[in-house]
Amino acid sequence: MTSDADFIRGLPKAELHLHIEGSLEPEQMFEFARRNRITLPFASVEAVRAAYAFSNLQDFLDIYYQGAGVLMTEQDFHDLAMAYFRRVAGDGARHVELFFDPQTHTDRGLPFSVAADGLLSGMAEAARTLGVTSKLILCFLRHLDEDAAFVTLRAAAPYLDRIAAVGLDSSEIGHPPSKFAKIYAAARDRGLKLVAHAGEEGPPAYVWEALDVLRVDRIDHGNRALEDPALVRRLAAEGMTLTVCPLSNLKLCVVDDLTLHPLKAMLQLGLHATINSDDPAYFGGYLAQNWVSTAGALGLTREDLATLARNSFTGSFLTPQEIAPHLAAIEAYVAA
Ligand code: HPA
Ligand code: ZN
Repeated sequence: MTSDADFIRGLPKAELHLHIEGSLEPEQMFEFARRNRITLPFASVEAVRAAYAFSNLQDFLDIYYQGAGVLMTEQDFHDLAMAYFRRVAGDGARHVELFFDPQTHTDRGLPFSVAADGLLSGMAEAARTLGVTSKLILCFLRHLDEDAAFVTLRAAAPYLDRIAAVGLDSSEIGHPPSKFAKIYAAARDRGLKLVAHAGEEGPPAYVWEALDVLRVDRIDHGNRALEDPALVRRLAAEGMTLTVCPLSNLKLCVVDDLTLHPLKAMLQLGLHATINSDDPAYFGGYLAQNWVSTAGALGLTREDLATLARNSFTGSFLTPQEIAPHLAAIEAYVAA
């Protein structure tokens, strides 16, 4: 029998929770800083990596927003996306639904188009040259107010035919989903799909709000939903996809040890969980590493792994016609 790592790499899979700014490797940070004539507050790549010790989400966000400051041109965003796609193609990903944080860039004075055009051209090149398809998700920063989200949605107007969904990220506690009720209604009116980070650090009540107030199509993270049995029943009954990020949870101290991660329990409760990398340059592993580490820590079976692979496509925003061949490829792979 092949090793778990080989089995996982070959298994057709999708990534549904990836912040493209979180794929910025320290080496690339220095390269972009050099070509954009930006001085970094770090002496070396090693010094950057040494700073990646986080005790919670906010610790990480502070350094993540600082890192994103080296991204200045369409070419930077294109190159960032292609570097990520090359890695994830090697991990056996066939499809990716990636987040970007336009407000992080427009608040630094970049036009909305710089990040959007650079990422979209990288996505087109990845489909052409690597066979990895993708969809773009515009995230609103929840530490900012809803008016700022409306400014961003207006700036995105010329791009809405190439944006699949809106999401909600950044500091969760103190910024409940209900703060964004109107912008989510507006996004829904424009035909966009809806996702939101909820239950990463925030309480089960935030997951309820994401469902009932925002009316999301997917929950990003969702770990703390397990504290509320009625919520678990609701998520299972609706077949709601959870985009779970095990190595992120470990690095941000959402779990104390990977052996204590709730992913296996989620599957046993009938929840449609998936495995994702979140911000792989900061959290110590891309997609396949998340799968391999989690499988090892939790003793996931081949059947669990196949279920996770199926969930990654059925939870995507691909059409049923687009999903069917991926599911067939999983069955063929598992049978072989
Ligand atoms: N949580 C919230 N906001 C984020 C994250 C995350 O894991 N990554 C990038 N922005
Ligand atoms: Zn995230």
